[in-house]
Amino acid sequence: MTQEFTREIYSDWMRSTQEKKYKEILLDFILPMKDKINLDRDKILDVGIGKGWFEKKLRDRGIENSIIGLDVEKMGLASKDIEFIVGSGDYMPFRNNSFDIVLSFDTIHLLKRPQEIERVLSDDGYAIISTHCNERNFKKRGDKIKSLFDMEVLKEGIVGDPNDEMSYVVLFRNGSVV
Ligand SMILES: C[S@@+](CC[C@H](N)C(=O)[O-])C[C@H]1O[C@@H](n2cnc3c(N)ncnc32)[C@H](O)[C@@H]1O
Repeated sequence: MTQEFTREIYSDWMRSTQEKKYKEILLDFILPMKDKINLDRDKILDVGIGKGWFEKKLRDRGIENSIIGLDVEKMGLASKDIEFIVGSGDYMPFRNNSFDIVLSFDTIHLLKRPQEIERVLSDDGYAIISTHCNERNFKKRGDKIKSLFDMEVLKEGIVGDPNDEMSYVVLFRNGSVV
């Protein structure tokens, strides 16, 4: 009973904080790129999808793309129609260059082989990676994300509520930095 109650409170809190971040990621990072990133059509992978709250947000806006969610654990998904694969982001069950967009929100610190993201991303694909941060460590967290990939950084910044929960987000385009 207590564990269930704790889980419920945690889940509600997580949902509202994550939803705020997702709204900002959509408005600040994805929609301004709409001539390059086509959420309706692009083949999208979400590594560490969790409960699929980002995908639920897309559904609520009428975007029905069958995004593939990968996670080591299947939790109750926020939308029934999300395509879900149980598996690890460390050895992804996909061929090279399989996706136009790879998302990974607040999960990168759990991946032992983050370079898998680059492998499954198409040569001209986009990756949006976020990690938890606060006002003291956001720069260090951003530098850490960028150090993991040999991809061009198009945009970066903080999302979320400074009084609650924040994440540092980096939007990459695949292709080595010259
Ligand atoms: C902090 S949660 C973030 C969930 C979701 N992306 C969000 O923003 O709400 C981290 C997620 O990563 C998953 N995870 C942990 N290790 C993983 C791995 N090696 N490969 C894929 N997913 C993993 C966990 O099961 C969990 O769902």
